[in-house]
Amino acid sequence: MVKSPLILGIETSCDETGVAVYSSDKGVIANALFSQIAIHKEFGGVIPELASRHQLEKIVPVTNEALSKAGCTLEDIDTIAVTNRPGLPGSLLVGLCFAKSLAWTKKKNIIGVDHLEGHAFSSFLESTPPFPHLCLTASGGHTSIHIVYGFGEFETIAQTRDDAAGEAFDKIAKLLEVGYPGGPIIESMSRAVDFVDRFAYPRGKQTMLDFSFSGLKTAVLYDLIKHDAYNMQTRQFLKKEDILFQQQVASSLLVCVADIFEQKLRLAMAKYPHVKAITFVGGVACNKYIKERLRAMCNNAGLEFFSPSPAYCTDNGAMIAFVGAYKAKQGLFDSFDLDIVF
Ligand code: KG4
Ligand code: ZN
Repeated sequence: MVKSPLILGIETSCDETGVAVYSSDKGVIANALFSQIAIHKEFGGVIPELASRHQLEKIVPVTNEALSKAGCTLEDIDTIAVTNRPGLPGSLLVGLCFAKSLAWTKKKNIIGVDHLEGHAFSSFLESTPPFPHLCLTASGGHTSIHIVYGFGEFETIAQTRDDAAGEAFDKIAKLLEVGYPGGPIIESMSRAVDFVDRFAYPRGKQTMLDFSFSGLKTAVLYDLIKHDAYNMQTRQFLKKEDILFQQQVASSLLVCVADIFEQKLRLAMAKYPHVKAITFVGGVACNKYIKERLRAMCNNAGLEFFSPSPAYCTDNGAMIAFVGAYKAKQGLFDSFDLDIVF
């Protein structure tokens, strides 16, 4: 039997350095990651200049870690797949320049991968969703719905007109002064009050397929001011002692975002009634509450539901290697002119 090629996947589009070794017959052989969360925590968000500097520091050790976990060397690798779009320019450049240098010196094929295509196919690392399906991607930088017809064949049918869903969690967690990244903190605060929806924040236009989260952020801010919980002049949260209030804000936000996701997916399902499944990917798909809401919706609609494990929801090299593997099969290699697109 002909062995399928070994792909090295490199992801450096934002604040995670992810490198994986993958082959179509063995799946993910090694997946190494360095996350900069601890570095950006004190700023309450990603600082691009810091992100690229740390990418530069980590790209070699994380690659060595992936190769040694896989028990192979660069000589064994057939193709290098690297995220070249979209993302922070400085961070993308680190991964791309590194990948190009390896490919040039070791005479390997190179393939540039769209970060969103990586997320869109991340469910395939652990399962086999049927085509066609709808894919909801929700992360710190993106919120979109794709209709996926096959490997590399997909159309964007909805995207955010302003903020991403993860960004809404991060920004509101910053308003509440509860830490960074906001998503997991908001989730555990919501669980403590059993996902109550005390404040019923606005869900937005019921008929629009596109997302918009900046209005929700403003609505939460005005509601905090109305409850004497936020001072616009000093930009300070005033109810730090009132844990229950904070939990209820967090929980109302989470329920609202889950309702918006459900509402948009229902619109998409009505527009594309032939889809067989829904996949939920990206950092926000780590959220168990939203996952279970969407799973229940799919069960009721007779659709299959897929969502990756947390390690493959957030940014990682494995999803980039997976896309690289099917592009290699399709002969879609790039030249050394490959550049970043941001
Ligand atoms: O996919 P990702 O690692 O990076 C981007 O490509 O943006 O996603 C990071 C985002 C952050 O906004 C974070 O708050 C959110 O994913 N996130 C969550 C959860 N875990 C991470 N959002 C909601 N619930 C979670 N449990
Ligand atoms: Zn991402």
